[in-house]
Amino acid sequence: MNLNIGVIKGDGIGPEIVTEAMKVLDKVAEVYGHTCKYTQLLMGGASIDVHGVPLTDETVAAAKACDAVLMGSIGGDAGTSPWYRLEPSKRPEAGLLKIRKELNLFANLRPAVLYDELKGACPLKEEITEGGFDMVIMRELTGGLYFGERSTGEINGVLTARDSLTYNENEIRRIAKRGFDIAAKRRKKVTSVDKANVLDTSRLWRNVVEEVAAGYPEVTLEHMLVDNCAMQLVKDPKQFDVILTENMFGDILSDEASMVTGSIGMLASASLNETKFGLYEPSGGSAPDIAGKGIANPIATILSMAMMLRYSFDLDKEADAVEAAVAKVLEKGCRTIDIMSEGKTQIGTEEMGNLIAESI
Ligand code: IPM
Ligand code: MG
Repeated sequence: MNLNIGVIKGDGIGPEIVTEAMKVLDKVAEVYGHTCKYTQLLMGGASIDVHGVPLTDETVAAAKACDAVLMGSIGGDAGTSPWYRLEPSKRPEAGLLKIRKELNLFANLRPAVLYDELKGACPLKEEITEGGFDMVIMRELTGGLYFGERSTGEINGVLTARDSLTYNENEIRRIAKRGFDIAAKRRKKVTSVDKANVLDTSRLWRNVVEEVAAGYPEVTLEHMLVDNCAMQLVKDPKQFDVILTENMFGDILSDEASMVTGSIGMLASASLNETKFGLYEPSGGSAPDIAGKGIANPIATILSMAMMLRYSFDLDKEADAVEAAVAKVLEKGCRTIDIMSEGKTQIGTEEMGNLIAESI
């Protein structure tokens, strides 16, 4: 198979971790008889430095022409980087929002899994995590507060800022269906998270989700208020299978969910539209503090690449091989610094990539 892949290395640790994921992918291609064509795409700070904007229309067009895009991370240190002296619409993050919107990547899948081998890194008490947990957050990604009208100006002489939160029933329906589809293939439970005791958008969300649920009698639906969900994630994470939620709540809850696994450097993510196209990126950020040091954990990017093989190319066997290779290297006791614990062997970014590639 010919895999036509766009590559956004991005900023911070992005280039280092994407390089390792490409190394592993090249090995997969060699072993399973595929060919990869890579198109390098500039986004975020890397694009600002060259074009003055975080994402050009040409890059969007080039991304659209690919079957899938593999991404590292974008953004820098907001306190020191010159990118953050630009107006908000020209900063690195605006590139990410633009590509999500332009490619209609409305379904953001963020798994949060407690790996047996990494239990020691989990900050929760053992009695809470006994038996592990395995949930996926299905976050709506192209609507809500992120894309509503916003403005800052004076009202009656008082400086006032406004962001608006809008959802229509179609936007809710399509993400809800995705959530139920995934749940039907997992443990068959959807927890829909909203703030229906306050927000109109949440009340509509609840109604539409219930309507969609009627089409999936085998899947159990429960509703949970977002504040309670934040609490339940640390109190009893095992209760969750699929968390279905809107953009802003999903942003916050997915960071929390990844933190309770103790290993954000391990967590992959996929942003999908109605077609097979997807943008695949690690859940963690660009970590400018450790960029260029060769110590970043490339596993989340490698596992995102595995998701790409599975969702965009239907190459399940190859995706399984990547996941098994990651598990094997962890079993051997090799760790990057972020998941290091006593008695294990600490290695760097490149060595981790090499070991995983060799295990394919
Ligand atoms: C994420 C990030 C982005 C978001 C930022 C960088 C705009 O936090 O992917 O979760 O808020 O969606
Ligand atoms: Mg976030």
